[in-house]
Amino acid sequence: MINTLTSKKIFLETYGCQMNEYDSELVRSILKKENYEFVTDEFKADIVMLNTCAIREHAHRKVYGRVHNIRHARGEDSPVMIGILGCMATNLRQDLLEDRSLKIDFIAGPDSYKRLPQLIREASDEGQKSYDITLSEFETYSDIYPSAEDRVNPSTSSRVNAWIAVMRGCNNFCTFCVVPYTRGRERSRSPENVVEEVRRLAAEGYKQVTLLGQNVNSYRYDDYDFAYLMDEVSKVEGIERIRFSSPHPKDFPDRFLDLMAVNPKICKQVHLPLQAGNNRILDMMNRTYTKEEFLALVDHVRAKVPNVSLSTDIIVGFPTETEDEFKDTLDVVSKVKFDAVFNFKYSERQGTIATKKYPDDIPEAVKTERIMRLIEIQKEITYKNNQAHIGKVETVLLEPYPDSKNKEIMPGRTDGGLLVLLPQGPYKGGDLVNVRITAATPHALKGQPLPNMSPSFA
Ligand code: 5AD
Ligand code: SF4
Repeated sequence: MINTLTSKKIFLETYGCQMNEYDSELVRSILKKENYEFVTDEFKADIVMLNTCAIREHAHRKVYGRVHNIRHARGEDSPVMIGILGCMATNLRQDLLEDRSLKIDFIAGPDSYKRLPQLIREASDEGQKSYDITLSEFETYSDIYPSAEDRVNPSTSSRVNAWIAVMRGCNNFCTFCVVPYTRGRERSRSPENVVEEVRRLAAEGYKQVTLLGQNVNSYRYDDYDFAYLMDEVSKVEGIERIRFSSPHPKDFPDRFLDLMAVNPKICKQVHLPLQAGNNRILDMMNRTYTKEEFLALVDHVRAKVPNVSLSTDIIVGFPTETEDEFKDTLDVVSKVKFDAVFNFKYSERQGTIATKKYPDDIPEAVKTERIMRLIEIQKEITYKNNQAHIGKVETVLLEPYPDSKNKEIMPGRTDGGLLVLLPQGPYKGGDLVNVRITAATPHALKGQPLPNMSPSFA
């Protein structure tokens, strides 16, 4: 018998990183077992849940704005319930207790999703605001395997890539970062458990898995390390490509790089977050490496894994960063020639060490000017890197849908993660196609399939 409470409709909106996307998949899996239904039209929902992100700028304001916007759109008398999940939960709980006029019904932190059915019941049956923001040292949701349906993102329904969290939390305490406070301590899932999830994904037709963790390469379960895990995952039949995100530069042992070099399923792509190129700033950030050590690591990774594609994250305008110190960051960018750089302006986060120790003293205009210079330099580098692929043959994994602007074009990714646009042909999302690269723009490559175009299935 379906009880009326548990057949309610939920609209779930996800902000932030891939880990949050995966967490939303867990949430769908947990609540669907309780008979809740997920809908894509927020106006049809009895419950709207926002899975929030706290990592950068204005997260607070954005969530309040969105809650206000939902209440306004649905009408002040609407019984729609609003729940806040994810990294903003900890901060919001305080506001919720202090400000009863905030119209949020329940809050669940990243380790409390199994309690969601109960929190929703408390909020709806008893009309009380309910919350659980406890951070766990053990919760890895290892017994929940989101199905293909739980993984459905309304805009892409083809089964090509799936995310899998293999570890959660972070023990690094980079001084700018809120993650250790919002997501708690590091903990890993057992290799058997991860492999089981990957097997299920392969059986459902997925071709690529992306292993996720706030600090994914510090994965450890008993004596098993990240290299062991990647090797085990790569043995799963049907999975053609494995990626991982996001690693820390401190955990790249040769054992892992050697495996990466020889294992054809492990994509030759490494995201190496630099954050800053100046040693004083790196020390203030608690990044545990110097500029010289970072550059040496890049050389080492390239020597071990030829043709590896490198990307990075950079923060500009960390407290007290001088013009000369910023130039050290530009210097690293010019030397390394990453394929992609993700730039962020430093933003103070509540509770972090930097917020307590260092006033946010770099004016917004200076941060903007620095980020623009960085973008300009990297744009040239990306373009040149892309041009260097012209004439080469790449194996491209096709994405689920034709390019949304141009239906004649099929998008896909190289092993290194670069976007390639192909003309339409007798292939579909999920196929691996051998392609000759014919042209390059600053944002993508263009290619023509070779006559014997598919190495595996088309
Ligand atoms: N301000 C700006 N950028 C930040 N990041 C993390 N915390 C902050 C912050 N307080 C960036 C880092 C990290 C990426 C995920 O977000 O570059 O690698
Ligand atoms: Fe944040 Fe540093 Fe941990 Fe990454 S490694 S999640 S930047 S504390």
